[in-house]
Amino acid sequence: MKKIAIFGTGYVGLVTGACLASAGMKVVCVDIEERKIKMLEEGECPIIEKDLPERIKKGVKTGNLFFTTDAKTAIEECDVIFIAVGTPTKKDSEEADLSAVFAVAETINKHATKRKIVVQKSTVPVGTGSQIEEFFMGKAEGGHGIAFFHAVVSNPEFLKEGNAVKDFESPDRVVIGTSDEDAKKVMSRIYAPFMRTAVGTTDRMIFMSRPSAELTKVFANTMLAMRISAMNAITELAEKFDADAKEIRKGIGSDSRIGPDFLFPGGATFGGSCFPKDVRALIAVMEKAGIDAKLFREVMNVNREQRMRFVVKIFEQLDCSVSESKIAIWGLSFKPGTDDVREAASLDVVQSILDGGGKVALFDAHAKESFRVAFGERAGVEYCDDQYEAIKGADALVILTDAMEFRSLDFEKLHSLMNKVVICDGKNLHDPEEMANEGVQYVCMGRPVFTAKKST
Ligand code: UDX
Repeated sequence: MKKIAIFGTGYVGLVTGACLASAGMKVVCVDIEERKIKMLEEGECPIIEKDLPERIKKGVKTGNLFFTTDAKTAIEECDVIFIAVGTPTKKDSEEADLSAVFAVAETINKHATKRKIVVQKSTVPVGTGSQIEEFFMGKAEGGHGIAFFHAVVSNPEFLKEGNAVKDFESPDRVVIGTSDEDAKKVMSRIYAPFMRTAVGTTDRMIFMSRPSAELTKVFANTMLAMRISAMNAITELAEKFDADAKEIRKGIGSDSRIGPDFLFPGGATFGGSCFPKDVRALIAVMEKAGIDAKLFREVMNVNREQRMRFVVKIFEQLDCSVSESKIAIWGLSFKPGTDDVREAASLDVVQSILDGGGKVALFDAHAKESFRVAFGERAGVEYCDDQYEAIKGADALVILTDAMEFRSLDFEKLHSLMNKVVICDGKNLHDPEEMANEGVQYVCMGRPVFTAKKST
């Protein structure tokens, strides 16, 4: 088997490296961050991701997985090089920042003395593979015009944070964008261990052109984000007519053409490193090509407006003014099972409460530290180690993720600890009527409101 180098030890690179190595391939993970490489060499996993520490340990123990900052040696020794570095949204526009991708391409160009298969796994705008290829072929500025040129394959990653290892090892599909026959064979062999349960060996391996593969990735995320925004867009109307978004989801999701997935509405709208970034990047690339991206712009508008509509609802529930309130927040990450707070609803909700002069008490099983780093040290913010500690003396409880520990509630504690038992549920986890029967003043998005029965 050919030796594999993976540039970038973020979610995508590290999961790819650890899973390939634990399936028996020789993998070296390369990063420019010495601290991260040192941590990995010492057996520590820099991110919270289910099953990943075990895969890393297995890879290292079997002598299949290595970590290094020495890009030159990795490039010399490996025939297949994955690019799995970050492509965040640029600060001054909606375009993806490709500088890290091209920095790796430049490093490959500098050190490769023979043809390599370069696998582009970072999420990039359509056309990036061709730009990299042109760069390698010496057509672009900075290319060396070397006698051989590398195959550039697009192999987008569809993993979900919190489920990344499982997604990698049992993928719905593996998309491989290339017209290079040798690269197709090599990619088939790399992914073969994860195809065993498929009907036939390559049913879930989808070969296509490189631009199609690049577009498949951002459009898959845009399509999923669009479903969530479509569902969120119907909640306000549902509320006006006492319709129930949960029932509507069931009603439409049972149509096999629609399906029930990614149709959960809520005030804690989609966040994370992928949906917002990828929708924005698609809008940017369309507009650059002179195409009106109005449908996809609305996906982002609905996402933002729904979040703000939820903030207004929170404030409306308070008996006191925001400036006199203490509000408990459960769930800081953009979804459970991760410490990732990128574009999380918590950032906007907490900001709005502090802007209104209120105080917050925050609980999250994994993301307190990452929230503290992203949000900065601010007055009026208390971090709690227990979810019920956060509600002590609170005027409202706001739920922002669908973590398992938020799905059933200890009503005795709620009644004894809170100033007033008000719950604003950004993930629509609970039944409004049941909550009212338990004496809870409860609001969520797109569901009927019931008056709390017992005195709160
Ligand atoms: C997503 C894609 O699912 C994955 O295929 C791709 O590779 C990367 O982007 P991820 O960002 O890890 O994965 O999270 P995901 O589980 O898709 O959730 C994204 C956001 O949407 C979360 O904030 C989640 O709370 C929200 N969401 C999801 C909803 O608001 N409603 C839903 O019905 C589903």
